[in-house]
Amino acid sequence: MSRARAAVGMAAAMIILGACSSPGGGSASASGSGGGGGNCVVGVSWNNFQQPRWGATDKPKMKQTIEAGGGTFIDADANLDNQRQLSDVDSLIQRGAKVLVLLAQDNKAILPALQKAKDAGIPVIAYDRLIEDTSGSVLYITFDNVGVGKAEAEAILQKVPKGHYVLMKGDPGDANASTFLPSGWDQAGLKDKIASGDIQIVGPKEGQFTPGWDTQKAQNEMEAIIDAANASNTKIDAVLAENDSTALGVAQALESKNYGFPPVSGQDGDPANLNNLALGKQYVDVWKNSNQLGIAAGQAALQLCQGKKINEVSINVDPSVAPAAGNSPTDFKTPGGNTVKSLILKPTPLTADQLGKVFAAGWYASKDQICKGVDSSSPGAAACK
Ligand code: GAL
Repeated sequence: MSRARAAVGMAAAMIILGACSSPGGGSASASGSGGGGGNCVVGVSWNNFQQPRWGATDKPKMKQTIEAGGGTFIDADANLDNQRQLSDVDSLIQRGAKVLVLLAQDNKAILPALQKAKDAGIPVIAYDRLIEDTSGSVLYITFDNVGVGKAEAEAILQKVPKGHYVLMKGDPGDANASTFLPSGWDQAGLKDKIASGDIQIVGPKEGQFTPGWDTQKAQNEMEAIIDAANASNTKIDAVLAENDSTALGVAQALESKNYGFPPVSGQDGDPANLNNLALGKQYVDVWKNSNQLGIAAGQAALQLCQGKKINEVSINVDPSVAPAAGNSPTDFKTPGGNTVKSLILKPTPLTADQLGKVFAAGWYASKDQICKGVDSSSPGAAACK
């Protein structure tokens, strides 16, 4: 973001924050979150750090934003364990958290933690993943996950309008994996093409879930699917993989089986996957600039700490990802029939020719990393020049 824009954003945030100016004297962050974090302790519960984005973007940006606004950032890593996530939340509350940010391992197993937060009057930000909340005390901050699925499938369906598809899904306890991404795939036309017979699914018909979005598990699953396809003389023409850690497992399986590289989708902009894009081992990566998600959550947490109601929160993020519905929360109808207030950022689909966008944004994957091994015949040749 330019300094000029940051200054405008900051001025706007000051006006919005009005009288709630910083008791701790904390300066506003460059992203315009405003000050006033005095004794604002924000407790963040991560479900894992396996995917590189969490440690490289989400966490540092959230922390910086909160600290620049005079607040205190504390966090815990549940390492993929539902029970541990519940006890992490207990201890974050004991350590004085005034706002909780939860990256839920499982959208239902997390509910007891939500109840505790509610009992203690602590507002909750459901970060990146939905929590099925009925209490009205949750602000859901995420990217447009249906839009991510739609962009993945649009790119792959355009490239491979007919043929045999593998569907590689993520963790079944994450609504992104079980509901939003597949409904985006269907919006792009997958369901109709299956019904018409243009597309046939190889492997599990509803897709193969991958616990923990784990790369090794996805590789094992994909190898088994390749073996079964080979045994029945079926050629795999495309793979819809929900995210980059599963797409990486798919690419590793294709490589280990010497299969060649049919078009594969993914999301997140993980360094290894952007390199695969440049090399032609993955076709599309729906990039979510999660630096901006961390900033948005940090801004919202500071404002909730200052006593703003969820519907009074306002974020100020880069225009490339700014919510289509505006910078204040709007209603989101959940698959469970609840309504939560939400801020939904815009994703950016990328094919190899568009890698310049991530270079320009100063993404944590460097150009050297992304362009490693690229030669004049690679799909990333032009972008990597
Ligand atoms: C999902 C998220 C994806 C990916 C995945 C792996 O909830 O939407 O972007 O990061 O988690 O943890």
